[in-house]
Amino acid sequence: MMLRVLALGRARRVSKYLKTIAPGVFLQELCNRPGAIGAICPSSKFLARQMARQLPGSNDGLIIELGGGTGVITRALLDHGVAPERLRVVEFSSPFVQRLRERFPDVEVIHGNAADLIQLIPRNVKIQAIVSSLPLCSLSEPITQSILQQWRELLHDGGVAIQFTYNLGLPKWRASILSHQINSKVVWANLPPANISTFSFKSAKLPHPANECS
Ligand SMILES: C[S@@+](CC[C@H](N)C(=O)[O-])C[C@H]1O[C@@H](n2cnc3c(N)ncnc32)[C@H](O)[C@@H]1O
Repeated sequence: MMLRVLALGRARRVSKYLKTIAPGVFLQELCNRPGAIGAICPSSKFLARQMARQLPGSNDGLIIELGGGTGVITRALLDHGVAPERLRVVEFSSPFVQRLRERFPDVEVIHGNAADLIQLIPRNVKIQAIVSSLPLCSLSEPITQSILQQWRELLHDGGVAIQFTYNLGLPKWRASILSHQINSKVVWANLPPANISTFSFKSAKLPHPANECS
């Protein structure tokens, strides 16, 4: 009897912990579409804050967030000082879209596929940054390449791309693009630790092939 009570207490603690790090909608989406989520829990506040800190200083142009999920990075971008009207969040999953719209009524949340990005956002508008949590390592190669090609077009006048990845080396997608690395930062306080890569497509040089890994 005593053992059963102890086991019940432990199960409740584990369930409470899981709810804290991964709200129900995240677990549900993780079970339904593990490849499209590409993470075992939402990003930590530390990772989200560091993503926001990579934004350029000026307030010039739109900020596009890709793969908003439960909104941890959206929250960090707003807390960093991004005005809600400058932010567009693109998310593929309906439950996440609904949650994002409830959480951030002042932000435009676009229900769509990042692979169709050019069609989802207004034309001829300057984009200052694309802030992405897309699981580029788990998406298919053609989709990843199509997404990166659109970033190149949209950021042609100096905008930056900010992407995190759990591959602390040089992921295949990163090695494959002609871009200029601005910053690379590992955030250990995340499950698992993540590397934030900030790059632009201006004065791009090919990365050295010796650094390539998948
Ligand atoms: C690793 S989760 C990140 C969620 C959240 N930003 C965070 O950091 O916790 C990846 C997110 O990208 C979304 N996603 C995956 N593929 C997508 C696509 N092609 N277009 C838009 N969103 C996509 C998933 O639904 C999920 O919300």
